[in-house]
Amino acid sequence: MVKVAVIFHSVGGTTRQLAAAVAAGASEVAGVNVIQAEIVGTDVKLGRFCNSSLLAQLDGADAIIFGSPTYMGCVSAQFKAFADASSERWSQQLWANKIAAGFTIGSNVSGDQLSTLQYLQVFAGQHGMLWSGLDIPENNGVDSFNRLGAQLGLIAHSVGGTVDEADVRTAHYLGQRVAKVSKIFVS
Ligand SMILES: Cc1cc2nc3c(=O)[nH]c(=O)nc-3n(C[C@H](O)[C@H](O)[C@H](O)COP(=O)(O)O)c2cc1C
Repeated sequence: MVKVAVIFHSVGGTTRQLAAAVAAGASEVAGVNVIQAEIVGTDVKLGRFCNSSLLAQLDGADAIIFGSPTYMGCVSAQFKAFADASSERWSQQLWANKIAAGFTIGSNVSGDQLSTLQYLQVFAGQHGMLWSGLDIPENNGVDSFNRLGAQLGLIAHSVGGTVDEADVRTAHYLGQRVAKVSKIFVS
């Protein structure tokens, strides 16, 4: 079985909704097991992410899909605390060769979400992971997939705390894609 992990932080629930769709998409691919894990604020103590069992869960995954709301043009502080805590894995390159992907959401259509995805890609690169973006070349219209047109990963836009249906569909597709890509690379 190929193991795909979805790890995310969410305050208002919109990133959590996307994470659920990503996980559902991945779990529809035959031969794939999905782990869904949430970064919560109470796991950050004196600025440090302290949930070692959550990090250990990710060690066994073949792919890790990272999700964070866009806060001030990047990941949230809670997600960054998690990323910093992963540095012990980085020093031994324990996550090297895992597939990586990312998703984010902001309340503006163009609220610098791409910067968040680029950070997630750099983060994955630091770990020696292999980044998978979206293979959707056109936005296919507002009611279809990838309406905001990013290919590095999923960019979503929340309006009043509600996630657009097309973004949820794209999240589902991203999960499927990462699961399929992982199956190609994991023998
Ligand atoms: C501190 C803070 C900073 C934010 N910065 C941005 C931003 O840079 N760009 C943007 O489009 N939205 C920004 N937002 C809006 C959130 O990204 C948006 O509401 C998102 O849907 C929240 O995700 P969640 O429901 O998973 O918590 C910000 C919200 C907060 C609270």
